[in-house]
Amino acid sequence: MRNLCVEFYQFKLDLLKRPDNTDMRVVLNRRNEASRNAFSTSAGATRTAAPGIGAQPSAIQNMSSTPFELPAGARFSSDAQHAPISVDQLFTDFLNDVHQRLLGAHDHRDIVHRVLDELFLGLRTRRLSSSPQEWAECIQTSRRHALLKLVHQDPFTYRAFSKPRGYAGDAQMMDYIYGREERWSPPEAERLGQLIFDFTTAAPASEGVRARRGYVAEMIDRLADRCARPHVLAIASGHLREANLSSAIRRGKLGRLVALDADTKSLTEVDRAYGHLGAITVPAKFRSLLTNKLNLGQFHLVYSTGLFDYLEQPVAQRLVATMFQMLRPRGKLMVANFLPGVRDVGYMETYMDWQLIYRTRQDMIDLTAEIPESEIHDVRLCSEDQRNIIFLEVRKR
Ligand SMILES: C[S@@+](CC[C@H](N)C(=O)[O-])C[C@H]1O[C@@H](n2cnc3c(N)ncnc32)[C@H](O)[C@@H]1O
Repeated sequence: MRNLCVEFYQFKLDLLKRPDNTDMRVVLNRRNEASRNAFSTSAGATRTAAPGIGAQPSAIQNMSSTPFELPAGARFSSDAQHAPISVDQLFTDFLNDVHQRLLGAHDHRDIVHRVLDELFLGLRTRRLSSSPQEWAECIQTSRRHALLKLVHQDPFTYRAFSKPRGYAGDAQMMDYIYGREERWSPPEAERLGQLIFDFTTAAPASEGVRARRGYVAEMIDRLADRCARPHVLAIASGHLREANLSSAIRRGKLGRLVALDADTKSLTEVDRAYGHLGAITVPAKFRSLLTNKLNLGQFHLVYSTGLFDYLEQPVAQRLVATMFQMLRPRGKLMVANFLPGVRDVGYMETYMDWQLIYRTRQDMIDLTAEIPESEIHDVRLCSEDQRNIIFLEVRKR
């Protein structure tokens, strides 16, 4: 059955983008009392709406024709004797619908995942169609809704939101993402939480993070193939999980592997897991590199993943220039960043309170602004297959 609520919600957002729709409201035909709590299509499909959480009728039935294109089976009218439904109400209907269907899904993985997919899409659409202020209000509305409690049964979503280490995206959270590839046991949760975890850690942002780790590991392996015992520095290393995928690291082919991170708990795990492979940990903030407070020497490769997504452009540019200064001749720096448009963005900001700085290709090139032109051998940009993460590489002369 097509999901009329989501489709119509999207249609409505499309409508809001129409330049002639200046008051940003559309009068919708409301159904009569008898069908108040059901979503219907003219093809006859019916679904029960969420009761008890301020549900408003969302179905569009038996409506007169309209100049706009409606989802299949839906009709729309400008009948002014009926009360208007605002975008906010439509959004609340959407949340009600998702909430109700998640509650009703019980143990059905496919249903839970389909509903979550619609939630991801709906929130992303809403974010991309809203002004920053409207989007901030949407986030507040969503967090007041009972759906928050359901999605917070997912340990991944909840960890980002609750930030036990003071920020979203800590190394433990990254391990939830890498755990799928490592076949680590998922964290404990209620059944619904497990199913949501299964979805969120497989969603495009998480896929991108796994692809990013693979990219780094291959880069280190290629470097070790053509250069004897290279020196490598990871800035904001987290748990340095690329070490699990890099044969060069596992076979002790690096001359030096330095993991710098501000979080000492993360570095304790690096010592435990990779100390025997030669990893050296440096508990420090990256800013101490900018002010020359640390002298770590020079490297063949300096890279950073999962940090630049939090840095404003001026400080990011300074860090790139500093990374460049730490390179040996022909050495390379690599910086990864999320590209705009990831499908998870609305969900991440709403339910995970996980705000990232998304960078375009142009923004990535702009990161090199403080490197003297004459010292650059080449600059390279590429993205992983799904185009959610972009990599900037700069090689020194
Ligand atoms: C999203 S995690 C990325 C970890 C790892 N690089 C990865 O890709 O899995 C971000 C890391 O940045 C570290 N971090 C945050 N602020 C930092 C700072 N000012 N200096 C150094 N590390 C920092 C955190 O401790 C965390 O381990």
